[in-house]
Amino acid sequence: MGMPGKRPAMIFTVAIDGPAAAGKGTISRAIAERFGFAHLDTGLLYRAVGVMGGDPVAAARNLTPHDLTRDDLRSLGAGQAASRVATLPAVRAALTEFQRRFARSPGGAVLDGRDIGTVICPQAEVKLYVTATPEVRAKRRWLELGGQSGPDSLDAVLAQVIERDARDMGRADAPLRPSDDALVLDTSSMTIDEAVAKACDTVAQRLSA
Ligand code: C5P
Repeated sequence: MGMPGKRPAMIFTVAIDGPAAAGKGTISRAIAERFGFAHLDTGLLYRAVGVMGGDPVAAARNLTPHDLTRDDLRSLGAGQAASRVATLPAVRAALTEFQRRFARSPGGAVLDGRDIGTVICPQAEVKLYVTATPEVRAKRRWLELGGQSGPDSLDAVLAQVIERDARDMGRADAPLRPSDDALVLDTSSMTIDEAVAKACDTVAQRLSA
């Protein structure tokens, strides 16, 4: 029984999964802002563990919120390191509880990653699987990086996208895949505004159901 006159804060979880550079981050931030939900980019947890060096299991167990604020987490190298440590079941297990607790943030939460709808929050109220072709995703990531030639050329970024997809989809523990009840949003030929509008409509419908 709650206090008289006090309603418990709403628990409402939005799970957003999909491959690298499909638009998950932009969509998640837009949902968080529009509905006032807390947002967790779960890729940052794996990126922080990946760049820390040493024993990744110990790094995952001892991770602090401060580690998520490092300024080297967005690089291509950190993404590759993340997808390698993310294949280790003990690393994934060490990060599970933190994500589940976050998903129950009072007032609602949106988490984006690879296994949120399938493993971390199978009971999420809304599940979206955001995807696009590897070519479209590589082009977006390449433009974000400044559209350079050399080691971060479009071809190099495409090769990394394909390699990371294969590792994330092929691993034994929590592979990347849409859960059966996820709404699949293919953003290949959508503008980001269209994708955000569709995602927000889905959340609004579920909230008013
Ligand atoms: O989303 P982002 O590109 O930051 O993720 C980096 C890597 O971390 C992914 O390629 C994936 O291997 C791993 N990851 C994961 N599960 C999550 C989020 C990220 O395995 N929920």
